[in-house]
Amino acid sequence: MAESTIDVQGMPLAEAYNELAEQTTAVLEGIDDDVAAMATMSALIHQAFGHLWTGFYRVVEPGALLRVGPYQGTLGCLEIQFGRGVCGTAAAKRETQIVEDVMTFPGHITCDARSRSEIVVPVYGRDDELIAVLDIDSSNAGTFSEEDRAGLEKLVEWFRRSN
Ligand code: SME
Repeated sequence: MAESTIDVQGMPLAEAYNELAEQTTAVLEGIDDDVAAMATMSALIHQAFGHLWTGFYRVVEPGALLRVGPYQGTLGCLEIQFGRGVCGTAAAKRETQIVEDVMTFPGHITCDARSRSEIVVPVYGRDDELIAVLDIDSSNAGTFSEEDRAGLEKLVEWFRRSN
């Protein structure tokens, strides 16, 4: 279904994330399944922006361990401990991490040597529990902004099933 992925490059970011949110909701209509949603969002975001790596690390031991989930890109590392790397930091602090230059982030975990900047967003489930983090890597430095944070945090609200 290559024709049904949208290309938002060049569009104002707020508009791009609105389009993505609309398409995500439409594609997932009637589906109550976190893995299906993670796979769908990874594909849509990745293709829309042309990122280097887009995917989820799932909480498999609350407060302790993340394990890779659905993603698009080159082989990702399988497990990340809370507090380690950008993903583990976002999970431990329950706070979005925007890293303009991965070389300057202490303990950054390199899965793909082409990665230059990164954003990691916490993902919460129905009961406000942390279920995963959404990790996006770019091959350019300084790719991600507060607008990306806002757009992605809104997108992963899907997992709360609050609407
Ligand atoms: N760079 C991440 C690890 C995951 S991969 O890049 C796919 C980190 O430091 O947490």
